[in-house]
Amino acid sequence: MTAVISYGFFRDNSRLSVSRLCVILILSAAFLIAGAGLIRTAKAETLNIYSSRNPQLIQPLLDAYTDETGISFKVLHLSDGMAQRLEAEADNTPADMVLTTDISRLSELDKLHIFTAVDSSILTTNIPAKWRDEDHHWFGLSVRARVAVVSADRVDPDELKQIEDLADSRWRGRICTRKGSHPYNRALLASIIAHNGAEAAQEWAEGLVANLARKPQGNDRAQARAIHAGLCDVALMNTYYYGLMKFNLKKTEQQEWAKSIRIVFLNQGDDDHGQHVNITGAAILESSEKYDEAVAFLEWLSQPEAQRVYASTNYEYPVNPNVAPDAEIASWGTFRADDLSVQELAKHAPMAQRIINITGW
Ligand SMILES: [Fe+2]
Repeated sequence: MTAVISYGFFRDNSRLSVSRLCVILILSAAFLIAGAGLIRTAKAETLNIYSSRNPQLIQPLLDAYTDETGISFKVLHLSDGMAQRLEAEADNTPADMVLTTDISRLSELDKLHIFTAVDSSILTTNIPAKWRDEDHHWFGLSVRARVAVVSADRVDPDELKQIEDLADSRWRGRICTRKGSHPYNRALLASIIAHNGAEAAQEWAEGLVANLARKPQGNDRAQARAIHAGLCDVALMNTYYYGLMKFNLKKTEQQEWAKSIRIVFLNQGDDDHGQHVNITGAAILESSEKYDEAVAFLEWLSQPEAQRVYASTNYEYPVNPNVAPDAEIASWGTFRADDLSVQELAKHAPMAQRIINITGW
């Protein structure tokens, strides 16, 4: 069976070289045996993954894949610092693949030129072009919508139609958000730059900041708590936090925060550009010697059965358009996603950050 394991050579940089030496010696011995006539059976039995995804979220899928194929996994969970680690390890990284969230992280990693181009018609069929890299270096696996949430008691959801509305003075003193510089908000602002231009985006950010009920602070869930407490009426939130709060059995107060809010999908008008979304994704390291096995696993993740699990465990949307969202998630409402490619968001991220600095969001 697979297990979530952190190995010495993963965890402790100071022991990297000694441990790596052991690995090299073991691998060399394996190759010597393979060279003695066993090459055909020398299939990869383990894929090493660096992941910033929640361990409980991916483990059921890894277990299912192991049951089906016999391929096992070693996963190093890195909530932060994956890019720094991969840059330092360079070609010596034990990782074959990465699983991570957000276009900002995927493009940051891609800039290190560590990903290999994957040639797979299964992936290009299952994953829409807007949610994968045009050079096939990374692929989206699930979609998250960054929506507005409004007070269930104090706001009629029909009052808010577009993200642009949040700069309107009718919302003066009524909006809460986390800091603009968080990748979620930066990508959202990047989408506004892509659609409306940098000048209009800056005006929008100035309007938003003028409408804030308090200094930007906390995470997405903290904004729901603020609405629950009556501090503000509107906030920005990734929809999966709604699910994580609604069904939170450990911190039951979060269930109350979820009850206080309603989700509003934005920019849904016929001529409008659709709801801003971001992705989680995966990529294969150029240095990996298990290209075929890694591609096969990626392809498997893009297929309906895995897509259903991969997306719904974290209350997200499948990236494969032939897979319907989970019933609970669908009950929050349907929406049309922005057609903008997530790569386009990455291009506008530096300008978005400049505007965030200027406006103090
Ligand atoms: Fe998140």
